[in-house]
Amino acid sequence: MKLDIAQKDILDVPCDLLVVNLFQGVTKPGGATGAVDEALDGGISQLILQDRFEGKLGQALVFPTFGRIKARRVAVLGLGDKRHFDLDAVRKVGGHVVKLAMSTKSEKVVTILHGAGIGGLESRGAAQALAEGLHLSAYRFHIYHGALSKKDKPPHEIKTVTLCETDTKNFRLGQEGLERGFILADATNLARDLVNTPSEHMGPLELALEAKKLVGKGVTVKILDRETMLKLGMTAAMAVARGSLNPPLGVHLIYKPKGAKKKIAIVGKAVTFDSGGLNIKPGDSMTTMKIDMAGAAAVIGLFKVLPQLNLNLEVHGIFLAVENMPSGNAYRPGDVVKAMDGTTIEILNTDAEGRVTLADALCYARTLEPDSIIDLATLTGACVVALGEDIAALLTTSRKLSEKIIQASRETGEPVWELPLYEPYTEHIKSKIADIKNIGARGQAGTISAALFLKPFVGDIPWAHLDIAGPAYTEKESRPDQPYGASGFGVRLLARLLQFLSK
Ligand code: BES
Ligand code: MN
Ligand code: ZN
Repeated sequence: MKLDIAQKDILDVPCDLLVVNLFQGVTKPGGATGAVDEALDGGISQLILQDRFEGKLGQALVFPTFGRIKARRVAVLGLGDKRHFDLDAVRKVGGHVVKLAMSTKSEKVVTILHGAGIGGLESRGAAQALAEGLHLSAYRFHIYHGALSKKDKPPHEIKTVTLCETDTKNFRLGQEGLERGFILADATNLARDLVNTPSEHMGPLELALEAKKLVGKGVTVKILDRETMLKLGMTAAMAVARGSLNPPLGVHLIYKPKGAKKKIAIVGKAVTFDSGGLNIKPGDSMTTMKIDMAGAAAVIGLFKVLPQLNLNLEVHGIFLAVENMPSGNAYRPGDVVKAMDGTTIEILNTDAEGRVTLADALCYARTLEPDSIIDLATLTGACVVALGEDIAALLTTSRKLSEKIIQASRETGEPVWELPLYEPYTEHIKSKIADIKNIGARGQAGTISAALFLKPFVGDIPWAHLDIAGPAYTEKESRPDQPYGASGFGVRLLARLLQFLSK
């Protein structure tokens, strides 16, 4: 799907589908919708009344024009309540435009900068959100639909979506926003691809190779092979990897522009498959565990856009890719493993492996002496219980990071909710025989005890942890720009956060 913007009147561009809009409760359309209504001799106004069209967000009136204007079909898309219309609504509008184009099998679509007119949004932001919504919702993961579907017709493909904006200033701003939205959505879609790819084809090696592909444009990478990891003392992460035939691999991406004022480390959980290990997961919980590297995928997605964001920041992206498998050589419940900083960890459940790998990843990040560390991890099932499929948990030692992450999350439409790093619960992770144990109290605050487990490994460096176990993957679509499967959660949020941190 190609996205572009034209400085033209919507009525001048031939297309299969023209999408205009209407706020809830409006019966006499104005702006672009009014112009189309006029060209159709009040046909839209009439339909609104006849069909009792309310204009709820996502509701649509679709009709053929029988050659009366250059568009073959017109869709009037409801924008919902004007008072609640914001950038996230624009993203959803982008999703609905794609749905309408798919259901009408349109190849060439024309639409407007929704929200930039009477919606009162600023043109650049609206164009960015619209581009995100369009590109994110057109995403499909179909590389495995080979031989089987060749007999069938290929899925419909939208060729172009053109935004029309006549005002010169808004057109310029729209161009900028569109470009920005497109590259951010593109990076998100890369993260989705990595997460959606089955573990057989996205093990530690493949994941590291994906990171390597980003080298250039100011990005370099260090690969930590098994020997290097051993030399560095990453024996906790290595213990998790031991049950698998696929050796662990560490990845350290570096973006270092000249004159950078601050240094930020972003760490991702990278368990390419989580079987649970010897504490093996029951079948149903194991099915989707290819997603257990979604944190690392977000890091890779971020590094894909990073050079284009022109930030005044040195950014380090770190993940230790491992596969958690049971075998004759697997780490066991009862074992004590040692992290890079010497901390001993009593393993009481091999399925609480994420924190064990992150211990070393965070130690490594800390040695870089960054100004802040942010990690993303599909860390606990408890987080899904607490916050559901849409919301990530945020646990942090820094009020500043908390504020900025919450603000970024509001803007990008990737919801987070803060949970406390409640100190007294460190009791839950006290071990009788080692410095710390890898599980908390049964049935209690699992997301908090996992975060408390991670905390000592970052030392005094301001740190924020995002548990993305819920939003990393969508089983049931809850918004149009988030199709079934991996969400790419975190890529846009991190990009926005880094913009805040560079100021
Ligand atoms: N990768 C899982 C957490 C997870 C669960 C992610 C569901 C996405 C969806 C993690 O490694 C895990 O297994 N955690 C255990 C920890 C427990 C054994 C203390 C859990 O949450 O059950
Ligand atoms: Mn696990
Ligand atoms: Zn896991």
